[in-house]
Amino acid sequence: KKGSYDHYMQKEIHEQPHSLTTTMRGRLKDGGVLLGGLKEHLKTIRRCRRVVFIGCGTSYNAALAARPFVEELTGIPVTMEVASDLLDRQGPIYREDTAVFVSQSGETADTLLALDYALENGALCVGITNTVGSTLSRKTHCGVHINAGCEIGVASTKAYTSQIVAMAMMALAVGSDQISTQTRRDAIISGLTSLPSNVSEVLKLDVEMKELASSLIDSESLLVFGRGYNYATALEGALKVKEVALMHSEGMLAGEMKHGPLALVDENLPIIVIATRDACFSKQQSVIQQLLSRRGRLIVMCSKGDASAVCPSGSCRVIEVPEIADCLQPVINIIPLQLLAYHLTVLRGFDVDQPRNLAKSVTTQ
Ligand code: UD1
Ligand code: M6R
Repeated sequence: KKGSYDHYMQKEIHEQPHSLTTTMRGRLKDGGVLLGGLKEHLKTIRRCRRVVFIGCGTSYNAALAARPFVEELTGIPVTMEVASDLLDRQGPIYREDTAVFVSQSGETADTLLALDYALENGALCVGITNTVGSTLSRKTHCGVHINAGCEIGVASTKAYTSQIVAMAMMALAVGSDQISTQTRRDAIISGLTSLPSNVSEVLKLDVEMKELASSLIDSESLLVFGRGYNYATALEGALKVKEVALMHSEGMLAGEMKHGPLALVDENLPIIVIATRDACFSKQQSVIQQLLSRRGRLIVMCSKGDASAVCPSGSCRVIEVPEIADCLQPVINIIPLQLLAYHLTVLRGFDVDQPRNLAKSVTTQ
């Protein structure tokens, strides 16, 4: 079933042009979005006071990637909850809330307990899951199956990108009654249509990412700085590196750099800075300058053709990726980091598909 691939994780990374296509199949219609599972509930969602995203691990990160465009397209405030932390705090959930549960397996214990809690509190509960017939799919009031196909590698890869796309379609559907954002919605839909071919394009960085991995093989730690749409990319890239390559890695909000992390910077610690084109671009340019002036060892991810704009001195390693509608850029940007984590793992001699101490689905608390 791995076909020509050595590992499931590798297969699932390279499958993404296809899995994203199936996520969108039959759902982009006549210039709009049709989600059969949400159709009857759109009015209720539009009226809610707040959207609360709930998940764990990669699924939480996917929701974090979706947060900016859900806020933008729906005008509804979005808050984020790691499922276990919501339960630990018994945080407030109200009848007027729409609680959106994100889970690849649909069987994660913490997420399901948070679902029971939100149901008891009377919120509208929406599921975003890859598993038809899962507990999450059955217990939520409504939802969207992401249809990414079975994911076997413990490290979630194709489910992450499909979850983001499913939530983009959800945001487009909920926001579809707003005339003022029509042009923006059209641009995002056209971005979705061109996503699979752009993903195929970025997958060509495979060899480059293997080379980068071989230069990082002996590093003790790797930082990833992102902000805005790509804060989630930083967290998710770092999660992949720590869970499979067993290397310490932290994703950080670039806006927090001066409030502590800057003290770590020296000529040895590798730092990935995500600086693709969006409204935060000039802020990321200045972050790069500040890191370079402290002799930081930088790897910069930028939009195609931007190498000299992000690193005029030529002293950074640059990863150039195709540019797409800004809010969909996280789908593209995570892929080189998935490839990097994969190659680092193989080169360091660790088990790719069954990382030490981890299980695919965490069904106990
Ligand atoms: C559905 C069919 C699909 C068919 C399509 C044709 C299923 C599972 N899907 O897809 O095979 O090609 O119609 O129009 O039979 N749901 C939840 N919680 C979740 C996820 C989903 O309650 O976490 C519910 C939805 O609200 C919906 C149902 O499950 O009632 C199916 O969801 P989904 O597969 O996303 O719906 P369609 O895309 O319409
Ligand atoms: O099945 P779920 O999406 O609910 O799983 C949540 C996490 O356990 C999962 O994403 C975990 O973080 C992965 N191993 C990440 O690759």
